[in-house]
Amino acid sequence: MDLLLTNIKGLIQTEDEPRKCVKGTYMHELAVLENAFLFIENGKIRDFGLMENAEQHIAQKVDCSGRFVLPTFVDSHTHLVFAATREKEFEMRIKGATYEEIAAAGGGILNSAMRLQQTPENELYESARKRLHEVISLGTGAIEIKSGYGLSLEAELKMLRVIRRLKEKSPIPIKATFLGAHAFPAVFKQHHDRYIGIIIKDMLPQIAEEGLADYMDVFCERNYFSPEETARLLVAGLEHGLKPKIHVNQFSTSGGIKVAVEHKAVSVDHLEVLADEDLEALRGSGTIATLLPSCSFFLGLDYAPARRLMEADVPVALATDYNPGSTPSGNMPFVVSLACLRMKMTPAEAINAATLNGAAALEIQHKVGSISRGKLANVIITRKMDSLAYLPYAFGSGHNTVETVILNGKVWEE
Ligand code: NIG
Ligand code: FE
Repeated sequence: MDLLLTNIKGLIQTEDEPRKCVKGTYMHELAVLENAFLFIENGKIRDFGLMENAEQHIAQKVDCSGRFVLPTFVDSHTHLVFAATREKEFEMRIKGATYEEIAAAGGGILNSAMRLQQTPENELYESARKRLHEVISLGTGAIEIKSGYGLSLEAELKMLRVIRRLKEKSPIPIKATFLGAHAFPAVFKQHHDRYIGIIIKDMLPQIAEEGLADYMDVFCERNYFSPEETARLLVAGLEHGLKPKIHVNQFSTSGGIKVAVEHKAVSVDHLEVLADEDLEALRGSGTIATLLPSCSFFLGLDYAPARRLMEADVPVALATDYNPGSTPSGNMPFVVSLACLRMKMTPAEAINAATLNGAAALEIQHKVGSISRGKLANVIITRKMDSLAYLPYAFGSGHNTVETVILNGKVWEE
């Protein structure tokens, strides 16, 4: 059924001319149409404008008095498929152990991989579907999901097939990223070349043949994959049609950003640590900087320098990093709040980063990310609020700010 959203207090992120993304210094501009209507037809945004021009459209009306309407969030970095939570490590960190120490002692990613390898595909699918529905109810209307807790051919394929099933069954656009290079399995700790060989010779060809992934990811970090190893893996990914989106500069800087940019990465993600030469590599490159503040919040790390990146005109996106180790939360409203509170992004900048720039980080800006004619009608109707800044201001309230989620023109109900 077609919908006419009426009396919208502020229609956010409207575009007459669709853009690819919003670069740094322009991110403080966020279009707001006051007292507006939004006309949805056949699941797509058909028209929008001032209320005085709403009458030309006949459809079921939804009164949005006192409420804001914005595009749903695009969560462009998650590890939503996992087998088990990791509260034990959470308690160890409270007592003083660091994330890196826990990983070195066999916890962390390897712990998640062991559990995932033992878990049947159906069970993984069911738990991931529940998480997906939870984050949709918080306003996420497109998402990326990574593999990377398999770390063997069989288990990586299992994860990617779960993601494929989610893609087929879910109401929102999903992109799949292959992250076989998330960590070295214990047996390959001293034999990096052998594991990299398995990724390149065994995993990538089969994944490409089955069309199971859209992107290639590598955890480029000390004790994980070096910039040289990352470069080899990115070349192999590109040969199979997978563009890079990589984890880099979470704990240290090593030149990985330069490697990513040289291989035309769609995005570089994390960047809690950022050297001047990293910033220079990103400036004007077209690669998006995806920042994950709820990971910093949970691990007690520094926050990525969003303002420095924006001042260098880099497009910044915000995502959750939802995963059992460093960010057990897929709450995009909370990410937007943290970006304002801890990274000093303005509400307008944070919303640009969480909508259009997130869409660009998944190359789906033609489908979602703004209120633009012809895009999917994936929108959030907020609760009544005086200003849009209430959304990040009321941190942690999630459902108390996002009242209704519309997907493909239909009110989302689980
Ligand atoms: O993005 N840093 C690497 N990967 C994840 C965490 C993975 C885990 O701890 O399970 C991240 O933070
Ligand atoms: Fe991650």
